[in-house]
Amino acid sequence: MCGIVGYIGQPRRAEEIVDILSLLEYRGYDSAGISGINDDGCKIIKEVGSISNLRKKIPQQWSVTNAIAHTRWATHGASTLQNAHPHQSLDKKWIIVHNGIIENYKELCSRISACANISPNSRGGGTDTQILIEYIANKNIDTFEDFVKLFQDIKGSYAIICQNTQKPNELYIAKKNSPLYIASDKDNNIFLASDPVCFSKYTNVYKTFNDNEFAHIHDQKIFIVDSELRPIIKESSKLKDDFVEQTKLDYAHFMLKEIYEQPDALRRQVDFYKEQKILSKFNSDFLSRFNQIKLVGCGTAYHACMIGVKYIENILSIPASAEIASEFVYNTNVFEPKRTLYIFVSQSGETADTIKALNIQKEKGATCIALTNVAYSTLSQQADYCLPICAGPEVSVASTKAYTCQLSALYLFANALKTNEDLEKAYNNIVELSTKLFDFNIETADKIAEYISSKRDAVFIGKNFDFVTAREGALKIKEITYVNANACPSGELKHGYLAIVEEGTPLVVVATDEELNSKVFNSSSEAVARGAVEIVISTDDHECKYLIKLKKINPLLMPMLSIVPIQYIAYKASILKGINPDKPRNLAKSVTVE
Ligand code: AGP
Ligand code: GLU
Repeated sequence: MCGIVGYIGQPRRAEEIVDILSLLEYRGYDSAGISGINDDGCKIIKEVGSISNLRKKIPQQWSVTNAIAHTRWATHGASTLQNAHPHQSLDKKWIIVHNGIIENYKELCSRISACANISPNSRGGGTDTQILIEYIANKNIDTFEDFVKLFQDIKGSYAIICQNTQKPNELYIAKKNSPLYIASDKDNNIFLASDPVCFSKYTNVYKTFNDNEFAHIHDQKIFIVDSELRPIIKESSKLKDDFVEQTKLDYAHFMLKEIYEQPDALRRQVDFYKEQKILSKFNSDFLSRFNQIKLVGCGTAYHACMIGVKYIENILSIPASAEIASEFVYNTNVFEPKRTLYIFVSQSGETADTIKALNIQKEKGATCIALTNVAYSTLSQQADYCLPICAGPEVSVASTKAYTCQLSALYLFANALKTNEDLEKAYNNIVELSTKLFDFNIETADKIAEYISSKRDAVFIGKNFDFVTAREGALKIKEITYVNANACPSGELKHGYLAIVEEGTPLVVVATDEELNSKVFNSSSEAVARGAVEIVISTDDHECKYLIKLKKINPLLMPMLSIVPIQYIAYKASILKGINPDKPRNLAKSVTVE
């Protein structure tokens, strides 16, 4: 996934470039590095792990006029110092930072002898990016035009910034399927970054690179072309006001802050939707254009899709389905694409699988809505309509407030498609719900966290809405405690999952539906008989070791309430295990590679 930064301009402390890079740490934190050029020449500094490790190695007096920097989420090659970007070609001429995957690196490798020792195939090997920079070096490129032409040979996804050590006043840029933005300040210093949030200290306007665009920066001039070398003039965009500084305030972690922000986030969403009349275009006339709705997302966003399907079917009685984006791209069903409404759900709006799924459906002529938390994101820009969830910046890798805001947005959306009256009631319901999110016993939740954190496995069960909450809860536990949490519909327990249960296995039972609870408890008793310890999240009383009792509310709103204690338990269990819940191992906040 990675975050990349580029700078060219007046002398600037390298530490400041690292500060800019740190705004991209949500994109990966396997390693970080910077290459800086000044009158003394070029220097590259890298470190494994988070950007704070890199920062310790940056000399205070080091100032640069040309810099590229990178925070990595390894796709090819282990998270080692050797594999950290920037990478320099063996002839020392080219230095690169790259976000994405070079899919045909093996083919490129076979064309040049210098690659023999770099192959990323083994754990000790190098990266796909190293092969690319050797390929570039091998082509003896002299001009920007040669650089652009060379990309005819490259397959995959990339946002790339290259330095040429023989031309210290220049940068070479290429972009396809990974985001990249450019901005210049009032003194004509030029900045590049994977997220325009990086520019907020310097300017409030920026330009967005589109796929298959290239840029050459030389003598403080920006020259942008397409793959046929035709010059491109770009419109500027304005930074939005929601570029608030990412701060933990008095909370120990972003995740805890984001859990507690949920009531405010829901109210903010309702206020924003009402003030801006966000849902006015989504009414019964709009709905009459379609005969089915498909919701597409990944991870937590997919769970929001699963709940969204239930909202649409319950409130509107029209067929809906939830699809995992990375699988849905292989869907060959061509059933009336123009009569199908697609909702692509993504917190970041940068998830490569979701963007790919959207592009496939757009080509078929379907109507696409992006339901995202980032208004300027690629998904928002590419969809026909954008539905913001207004959760505010979510920094922790484990999604919490974005999930509840996705559910709320889908609930409001479904009601808007019904009648205005229903929408008004729905607004009130969300505001009322927001006052109840923390009406659960925190001491019991702390004890549950202690119990789960001491175990290797956990099983989550539920039915209908509660099954989705069980899935989302298990994902939270897995992501930030590394406990192997599996979720299944309670009815499926006896069809396989029960084999995991042994003496003491935590069995998290989500049972908030009066009509279904007795069936869920029947299943859980089968697990208890085999040694499971019940952890029950329910609107009913139930005799068990740990019970989190929830108030009875409208069943459609319950998934926004019942997930909160599980988010809190996951956070606490993570802390007890000494894990940083904001940056769990192997994961990143924004998944911009397929
Ligand atoms: C959530 O806790 C996860 N980190 C992950 O499943 C996430 O929801 C998924 O990667 C999708 O991200 P998106 O919402 O930004 O598209
Ligand atoms: N493929 C490159 C690497 O593994 C870049 C990774 C990325 O952008 O996620 O170093």
